[in-house]
Amino acid sequence: MQSFDYDPTIRVLFGENSVDRLGELVRELDARRTLLVTDPGLVQAGHAEHALQALRKAGCETAVFSQVEENPTTRVVKAATRFARESGPIECIVGLGGGSSMDCAKGVNFLLTNGGKMEDYQGMGKASKPMLPSLGVPTTAGTGSEAQSFALISRRGSHIKMACGDKKARFRAVILDPGLTASMPREVAAVTAMDAVSHALESYVTTRRNPLSQMFAREAWRLLAGNFEAALDHPEDPEVRGLMLLGAHWAGAAIENSMLGAAHATANPLTARYDITHGIAVGLMLPHVVRFNGPVAGGCYKELLSVAGACNGSERTSPERLSEHLVRFKQAAGLPLRLRDCGVLSDDLPLLAQQAAQQWTGTFNPRKLNQEQFIELYEQAF
Ligand SMILES: [Fe+2]
Repeated sequence: MQSFDYDPTIRVLFGENSVDRLGELVRELDARRTLLVTDPGLVQAGHAEHALQALRKAGCETAVFSQVEENPTTRVVKAATRFARESGPIECIVGLGGGSSMDCAKGVNFLLTNGGKMEDYQGMGKASKPMLPSLGVPTTAGTGSEAQSFALISRRGSHIKMACGDKKARFRAVILDPGLTASMPREVAAVTAMDAVSHALESYVTTRRNPLSQMFAREAWRLLAGNFEAALDHPEDPEVRGLMLLGAHWAGAAIENSMLGAAHATANPLTARYDITHGIAVGLMLPHVVRFNGPVAGGCYKELLSVAGACNGSERTSPERLSEHLVRFKQAAGLPLRLRDCGVLSDDLPLLAQQAAQQWTGTFNPRKLNQEQFIELYEQAF
């Protein structure tokens, strides 16, 4: 059995209106001057103002950087860091939003406290100086970034994602408020849910899987698979939104303790080259990765089917049934089923495979892949 080193230092607050306690949590970290990192959509939805009110009520002074873009690049992190420096001494950073805002908040923390550029922190544990205390407040049920030490930042120009990790970059507290996910448009709810499902499935079978990461991944899968369609059909239901938010968070905790696999390795080049939204790209590849992993991960997939109550007496194997289960999710969500539906060119598949083979995340896939097998995966998804 794989060993693990669990270091649970993130305080997690879950519940309706828990964002009202944001200021109180900042003050408990002995901080007052706060940088709030968010995006223009959340300003428009009123969530940034809601967070600001909670901070003001606790006597926090807040500078707001609201220019985060999807798949944040080194340029945005640099701009946010410059803004923070010009705003005077910052004692605490709050990331409010989807994975992009939370990753950008972590990125700013690296540059503000340790200097240099984002590229200096690619990998794990490259920050030598202390970092600022920070908080994560997700507004989508998707990335689970709030549970992780990594900031995913794209290189300006190439749009290749760098994973910059450090335990010190991890949020000290996380607020999971289901009320904040109520404003998600259906398309956003669908792609973020697909991403969260992929986190649960991939982390459950990686080479680094261990009893702890599997506990998180199994519970994440139970919540996400059990509420996927209800979350899309009944976004007004706070109970369902809460279960999806928790599922996405546990899936993020599973990644923190076991990493990801080939669906993410093959999705990242699709996003970099064709600007395909991350959750769509992962959803396109995941059913094929599950079939590919079948010979070594079939037992794990059978366990997950059982958790989802989908272990019927069918003749088909567990990887096939799980793969079909995922396709049904995509159909229910109205997500594209094939690469060709997203403008991918067949001539590009070898190049995409070459880039996928270089992705660090792919090294944790339970079945090793060579470049030919990456091409085959793209061909199956095409
Ligand atoms: Fe993901």
